[in-house]
Amino acid sequence: MREWLACVVLVVPLLAPLPAVAAAGDAIEQPLTATPGDAARGRAIVASRQQGLCLLCHRGPFPEERFQGNIATDLAGAGSRWSAGQLRLRIVDSRRVDPDSVMPPFHRSDNLQRVGRAWQGKPVLDAQQVEDVVAFLLTLKD
Ligand code: HEC
Repeated sequence: MREWLACVVLVVPLLAPLPAVAAAGDAIEQPLTATPGDAARGRAIVASRQQGLCLLCHRGPFPEERFQGNIATDLAGAGSRWSAGQLRLRIVDSRRVDPDSVMPPFHRSDNLQRVGRAWQGKPVLDAQQVEDVVAFLLTLKD
């Protein structure tokens, strides 16, 4: 019985399609997951060249990273400039703030172009990873 329950708990979220994320204005106020984001995991995602790729375009307080981007804003102070909900929407799909944004949508799996087969139908970051990144960005106060 215990094992059976564990199976359901593990499998159901995998089968559920990505819920349409409700945005109001320029923010998604509601966290995407019940588990609060983990700022340390979020930092690792943001600095990662495999996962977040944020530093391809942004720079920030990452003294250990030699090459950082300069086509977008410095992430330092992002937690002072934006609320959790505003950050969440920008990570999920920044084109919902600005249709011309070059920042890729990190948590959308529909209407994407030029997506490699292994990534088709999958968002770049899952809901928990989005929450982790938001939690980290909120620690970046001026
Ligand atoms: C391909 C380049 C690119 C990548 C990759 C990218 N961004 Fe951005 N980002 C931008 C640009 C350009 C803007 C400026 C506004 C716009 O054009 O949408 C922006 C805006 C933002 C903003 C709000 C602007 C501000 O003033 O702080 C945040 C926060 C942000 N990005 C975080 C991230 C995080 C976190 C990641 C990785 C998960 C990431 N970005 C990946 C290009 C990028």
